[in-house]
Amino acid sequence: MKNEILKKQYEQERERILSLCLLQELTGDYTSPVFGEGSENASVMLIGEAPGREEAQQGRPFVGKAGKQLDELLITAQIDRESVFVTNSVKYRPTRVKKTVANRTPTAKEIKDSAYLLKTEIDEIQPKIIATLGNSPLYAISYIFSLGNLKIGDVHGQKIELSNGSILVPLYHPASVIYNRSLIEVLREDIKMLGKLMRE
Ligand code: URA
Repeated sequence: MKNEILKKQYEQERERILSLCLLQELTGDYTSPVFGEGSENASVMLIGEAPGREEAQQGRPFVGKAGKQLDELLITAQIDRESVFVTNSVKYRPTRVKKTVANRTPTAKEIKDSAYLLKTEIDEIQPKIIATLGNSPLYAISYIFSLGNLKIGDVHGQKIELSNGSILVPLYHPASVIYNRSLIEVLREDIKMLGKLMRE
């Protein structure tokens, strides 16, 4: 990462995340944040929900099961992963403790508290297309750009122009469709359209 502004904010976020350890009610892997990865000249930014266990271990976004699914979808859409910027709405792994430690969906507050950094990533990369994967990043982008209450089931595959000039394309989350054949087809078609839009 050469971008000095992003580098600085990643370090700032690392400190903010570590200070969350003091909170009792929210749990997470605060010691292994995962920041954005990819080309700083990327025309496409992919935004996931939050890192999972594998991502926290490797310090890279989308390298576990959902990452494999995403890689396959990118191949389908003829998009080279090296050419996109991949990040998450929340940079640490939100967890809850049942019998074991399990991933959980980030809360609205966690997404809003993390949005300043996502906004900086967008400002610095200036992507032509922002593709959100699932409801959490759609919520983050709606919050940052004041879009109101968008739901993925209503707006997936649409092209929504944002006030910064980027085009928002909401997509389903790759992990959410793994066991749903018809949704996989919907996501495949949406991401193929994204690939075409990227090459226009
Ligand atoms: N799911 C996400 O939303 N992001 C990751 O980085 C990994 C899994």
